[in-house]
Amino acid sequence: MALLSNPHKCCTFALLFMGITVSSLKEPISGELETFEKQFRASMKTSVPLLDTIMNYIVRRKGKQIRPMFVLYSAYLFAGIDERTYRGAALVELLHTATLVHDDVVDDSYERRGFFSINALWKNKIAVLVGDFLLSKGLLLSVEHKDFDLLAIVSNAVREMSEGELLQLERSRFMDVSEDIYFEIIRKKTASLIASCCAIGAASAGQDEATVSDMRRFGELIGLAFQIRDDLFDFGDNKSGKPAGIDIKEKKLTLPVIHAFSKASGREVRAIKSLIKSKTPDKQKIKEVVAFIDQYGGMDYARERMNALRDEAFAILERVAPATPQRGHLRNLVNFVIEREN
Ligand code: IPE
Ligand code: IPE
Ligand code: MG
Ligand code: MG
Repeated sequence: MALLSNPHKCCTFALLFMGITVSSLKEPISGELETFEKQFRASMKTSVPLLDTIMNYIVRRKGKQIRPMFVLYSAYLFAGIDERTYRGAALVELLHTATLVHDDVVDDSYERRGFFSINALWKNKIAVLVGDFLLSKGLLLSVEHKDFDLLAIVSNAVREMSEGELLQLERSRFMDVSEDIYFEIIRKKTASLIASCCAIGAASAGQDEATVSDMRRFGELIGLAFQIRDDLFDFGDNKSGKPAGIDIKEKKLTLPVIHAFSKASGREVRAIKSLIKSKTPDKQKIKEVVAFIDQYGGMDYARERMNALRDEAFAILERVAPATPQRGHLRNLVNFVIEREN
């Protein structure tokens, strides 16, 4: 009875029981995802041999494709997947891939999707140019088909992503990040693109400005939760195919640490900051930082914030769309974002 009176809890149990996987999320739109994928691959074609080799490497190690799924399901919600939706999905995945290639250069990270990153195999110079190539291919796809409204939506996100990454770099140099600044960073670097996905899906399905704007906000809330989940991976064993401890190594403060700092004494905060700055081996550092976070409930706090963002997003979804199976698919995708292990 208590279980049934709380729909989120009920849903969470059901999902855990079924073990929500990326493939189960893809199943209802598998044909549509194939069409997207063809579009995506075709957009990566090049006659430059080295670029062609690298594009093949990228295509063979594809990610979860969460963003194209948000585009497609946001259009499906309004029964309107069409050619523009597929191009919108390809556009965001091209931009996303470009930012990951650049991000691994910025973060000096040598692993991505369980394999070597582009900078690990071909060095930074080539990775920077590959990222630019992918970005230009995304922009060209929209320009060639005159999808100017979709291009306007993502251009803003591209600007915000660069601003967010720079703000993060600037703040990590001094390890000076409040909770507000953390949210500003993740809103810009991650949530802006996921917000664009949901806005593009709705716009491609011919929805009016108010609905597109609601869907953008829905995506923004999910994007914030997505990055909080991603930041939790950095503190331990995970199946994400990315190395743990990169954030600590880069002096990047994320929500669990920021929360623990807000609860601990000045002396403890100074001690942890100098540990992070010190030459202590990374494994040891992570162990000590995790113990500090646990002492102040930092991981639980981050999970609570994530759940609150999900609930706010669900409230928007309920307002913009009736209770159809399509809305259920979008809800499943949101639950996956919160509970995912990769
Ligand atoms: C990783 O995004 C970058 C972040 C915004 C945290 P994803 O986890 O969606 O990456 P792939 O595409 O599945 O590898
Ligand atoms: C996410 O940043 C990448 C962008 C949003 C550009 P992170 O550095 O936190 O992501 P991962 O963990 O390397 O995927
Ligand atoms: Mg990174
Ligand atoms: Mg980064």
